[in-house]
Amino acid sequence: MSSKSKPKPKNKRSFQAPKGMRDILPEDQIYWEKVEQTIKNLADAYDFKRINTPILEDTELFVKGTGIYTDIIEKEMYSLRTKGGDKLSLRPEFTPAIIRAYLENGLSSLPHPVKLYSIGPIFRYERPQKGRYRQSYQANFEVIGEKDPVLDAQLIQLCFSINKGLGLKNLITQINSIGCSQCRPIYRKILTSFYRNKKKELCSNCQRRFQQNPLRLLDCKEAKCIQIAEQAPQIIDHLCEDCHNHFRGVLEYLDELEIPYILNSHLVRGLDYYTKTVFEIWPDDAEGRQISLAGGGRYDKLIKLLGGQDMPAVGFAIGLDRTINRMKEKKVKVFSRSRPLIFLAQLGDLGKKKSLKLFEELRKAGLRTASSFGRNTITTQLKIANRLKVRFALILGQKEALDKTIIIKDMISGSQEVVPLEKIIDKLKKKTRTKI
Ligand code: HAM
Repeated sequence: MSSKSKPKPKNKRSFQAPKGMRDILPEDQIYWEKVEQTIKNLADAYDFKRINTPILEDTELFVKGTGIYTDIIEKEMYSLRTKGGDKLSLRPEFTPAIIRAYLENGLSSLPHPVKLYSIGPIFRYERPQKGRYRQSYQANFEVIGEKDPVLDAQLIQLCFSINKGLGLKNLITQINSIGCSQCRPIYRKILTSFYRNKKKELCSNCQRRFQQNPLRLLDCKEAKCIQIAEQAPQIIDHLCEDCHNHFRGVLEYLDELEIPYILNSHLVRGLDYYTKTVFEIWPDDAEGRQISLAGGGRYDKLIKLLGGQDMPAVGFAIGLDRTINRMKEKKVKVFSRSRPLIFLAQLGDLGKKKSLKLFEELRKAGLRTASSFGRNTITTQLKIANRLKVRFALILGQKEALDKTIIIKDMISGSQEVVPLEKIIDKLKKKTRTKI
């Protein structure tokens, strides 16, 4: 339901989640658990180690790392000043934070490559729409200390493996190279001179980008800017030998892995640190066009920029919200955890006390049991048991508590049996093994 259509109770202030942020309700947790589990298994298989960093970081880290002329820094950061006067920001992405943690915690002295991954929320003050939230979630992977193009290709493979593990097919890699500090300035000049006499035809955003970040002119979504960008010179025609060979290497490895890709000369990515390879993973069908499920690339200069050694790196992040939206659109089947087979109903003070203890024993014995300790009538409790579709209801009332017995009710046949309390676990283990 959109926030506009939510009925507002009269005379009462109703609180809502902040714009662009949302609750992930119990019924959706099954998708999130599946996604996290798949990612954890594959991260293990590809030998990534998990790292958690704070949600808040020094604002300067992102200004320097993500880049001062990016949309993220210009208009999308949630920033605050602490009582102590520190300027902090909610992380708009993981990469600079992970590099900070790698440098701060001495991970740079480990054997390289150092392979790290994180799962968690990011915050960007963007215009909310379907698939774009102000609080969204990413799984982020970084490989630090390897310049070989084989790693760029293997990360794309990992991204495809995750999607495959989640039942998502028909994806395509959009890929480009944006060169390095040798060849990009030359291309930048060529691009600026192409755009110089077209400046007036550009949207207001692009008129600003023309000065500060001309490569971003290529990926503007405004129709008039797209038209002009179609004619623009392409960076792959202006790569230096090293970047050219690197890019060719990545594509050859992708061919070997049979990963589908499209050379997209307009893909420049909205973050400043990239060098050489940049890529995004898009659904390869009409509805999915231009929705990036994941994005990443190589960033060989960021570690030095943030105070470390000259160290190459490559990484990507997969957007979990968009991935789950797509799983739902594609009706991917996700199975829920096993539901309880037993319901424990109690009656009277003594029955409730004994049931509380029995619940713990059942749990320790691995028998998933539902209960409703706050309800005091048997009828209500058995109604709940019916709704939960359990196979057996246990009834422990005052009489049973005194006799040290318990009733087992078969919820399908309706038959009942009185059992000594001390035998209940063995009895249930046998019954749940044979009857279900
Ligand atoms: P990014 O392309 O900004 O890259 O984000 C990666 C993915 O996160 C996107 O493809 C998208 O699926 C998801 N995403 C981003 N913003 C939102 C949003 N507002 N709402 C929903 N989903 C969103 C990065 O963040 C880089 N740090 C990736 C990287 C890692 N590059 C190198 N290492």
